[in-house]
Amino acid sequence: MSSTERIRKVCVIGASGKLGGYLVRLALHHGYEVVGVCRERSVGKLAEFADRITIVPGDTNDPEVIRRAVAGCDGVLTVLVPWGVRQYSSGTAQAVLDHADPGARLVFSCGWHVPRDEKDRYTRTFRASARIVTLLGRALRVIDIDDQVMAARRIFASDRRWTVVRASDLEEGESQGLPVWTRHVGDPLLKSNLTRRVDFALFMVEALTDDTLVHEAPAIVGRPGSLSGRTGEG
Ligand SMILES: NC(=O)c1ccc[n+]([C@@H]2O[C@H](COP(=O)([O-])OP(=O)(O)OC[C@H]3O[C@@H](n4cnc5c(N)ncnc54)[C@H](OP(=O)(O)O)[C@@H]3O)[C@@H](O)[C@H]2O)c1
Repeated sequence: MSSTERIRKVCVIGASGKLGGYLVRLALHHGYEVVGVCRERSVGKLAEFADRITIVPGDTNDPEVIRRAVAGCDGVLTVLVPWGVRQYSSGTAQAVLDHADPGARLVFSCGWHVPRDEKDRYTRTFRASARIVTLLGRALRVIDIDDQVMAARRIFASDRRWTVVRASDLEEGESQGLPVWTRHVGDPLLKSNLTRRVDFALFMVEALTDDTLVHEAPAIVGRPGSLSGRTGEG
């Protein structure tokens, strides 16, 4: 690990979800001051943290909400979700890129389905199921996978200090330690395709102070199922 920045205050965007809850808990464990953003109707889900964090209620793709929430934060942990069909993901990413403090560490979550570049290799089955979810989600107006891909593209094009963490399928359970990662989907290292949600959060929080992950889009997987213990890839 190496870090040139000291992290004191962190904003968790999408704090009321499952991954968000783990991110808040870990950030508090590190002793960081925490600001959490979630939709107004979900504030109650943060009750267990209410006396330890500042909660900013509002839509995460509302630039004004994000501007207030990220002010003075050294790190921003953003849960990028494809829910809804109102550019929620790309709007959220853009608001963070536009309003985070200069020099802040920006760490975003998404899944392997978001490609970093042409070196990502997907199986035919993976492509087919992603396409079905994309089309069905859009038809039912529930999710917009393409908007999450658009969000990631905007981040990749930015000169901010970003990391986009791309996760495998997730499961609940005790931590198994920091996931391993590789630059490209399709690497045999990722074979097990399973990560504990708590370890996804662990990777994101550790990324705040790991400068080697700046401008990387690590594809991660839980440790026990991996073929070796190596982290990173040339
Ligand atoms: N689930 C998987 O298997 C899987 C696999 C790979 C990667 N990921 C990635 O993991 C991250 C989060 O996963 P998770 O399973 O922890 O998510 P989650 O618990 O479902 O939380 C998602 C967040 O989305 C918000 N949300 C839900 N519906 C919404 C809507 N219609 N409009 C706006 N916001 C909405 C939730 O806010 P409220 O509390 O207000 O509802 C919550 O903050 C995402 O980046 C996802 O791409 C997930």
